[in-house]
Amino acid sequence: MSYETLLLEIRERVALITLNRPKALNALNSQLIAELNQALDRLEADPAIGCIVLTGSPKAFAAGADIKEMAELSFPQIYLDDFFAAADRIANRRKPIIAAVAGYALGGGCELALMCDFIYAADNARFGLPEITLGVLPAIGGTQRLTHALGKAKAMELCLTGRQLTAEEAERAGLVARVFAAEQLLEETLKVAEGIAAKSLTATMMIKESVNRAFEGSLSEGLRFERRIFHAVFATADQKEGMAAFVEKRPPQFTHR
Ligand code: CAA
Repeated sequence: MSYETLLLEIRERVALITLNRPKALNALNSQLIAELNQALDRLEADPAIGCIVLTGSPKAFAAGADIKEMAELSFPQIYLDDFFAAADRIANRRKPIIAAVAGYALGGGCELALMCDFIYAADNARFGLPEITLGVLPAIGGTQRLTHALGKAKAMELCLTGRQLTAEEAERAGLVARVFAAEQLLEETLKVAEGIAAKSLTATMMIKESVNRAFEGSLSEGLRFERRIFHAVFATADQKEGMAAFVEKRPPQFTHR
C-alpha cells in the first residue's frame, strides 16, 4: 500500500514512518492523519513488527495542524465532525512508537510527538504550542500532555506565550528523552528501536500499557474538555482573524472576542 503524505519503510522488525508534505512543513491535514492511522493499523496487525519510528524532515517534524484546512471552518462544522477525533487513535496504539524530531515540532506537530511513547530530538529541534498566536488553543492533547510532561509552570508559559523550547531545554525539562547531533538522529533512533523490537513484544506492550496508566483518569476528562472548548473557539472572531492573517501573511488584528 502506498501513501501520498507519508513514506513507510520496513527494516526487519522496525517500521519507519516519514511524514512527507515538505511544501507545507508536514502540516497535519486530514489526509495525513487518516494515512498515518492506516499505516499504524497495518503495523499493529503485523506480528513481524516490534517497534515504530515516526519522523519528519530535517527542517520540520511537523509545523502543526494544517491551518489552511481549518481557517474557514465554522463551529457547527468542526463540532459535528468532531474535528481532530481521528488523531486520538494515534495515541491509543499498543506497540511502542518513538518520535525522532528534527526542526519544528509546533502545535499539532508537538502534540503528535507527545502522543508517541518517547521523543528523541536533533539538536536543531524546536518545540512549541503557538496556537495562542492564531487565536485558538492546542487541541490534539497539548494542554494536557505538555502539562503532564513539564509541570504547570512551564506548560502554562509555553501555551500562553507560544514560546519555543530548544532541544536542549526540552531535554532538561523532561519533554525529550535524549538529544543527538542532527545527522545522527535517525541512525541512533533506529538502533534503539531495533533493540526494543528484539525484546518480547508481549512484555514491551505490557510495559507501555502500565506506564501509560500513570497518566489516565483525569487526563481523559481533561482531553474531552480541551476538545470541546477548541470546537467552541471557532465561534469567535479572533479564530477567524488569527487564521486568516496567517494565510494572508500579515499580523493579526485581534478583537479579543
Ligand atoms: N498549516 C498550513 N501550512 C503551513 C503550516 C501549518 N501549520 N506551517 C507552515 N505552513 C506552510 C506555509 O504556509 C508555507 O506555505 P506557502 O509556501 O504556500 O506559503 C510553507 O508551509 C512554508 O512555511 P513558511 O514559509 O512559513 O516557512 P518559514 O521557515 O518561514 O517558517 C514556521 C516556519 C515558523 C514553522 C512557520 O511556517 C509557522 O509559523 N507555521 C505555523 C506554526 C503554527 O502556528 N502551528 C500551529 C497550527 S494550529 C495547530 O497545530 C492545531 C491545534 O492544536 C489547534
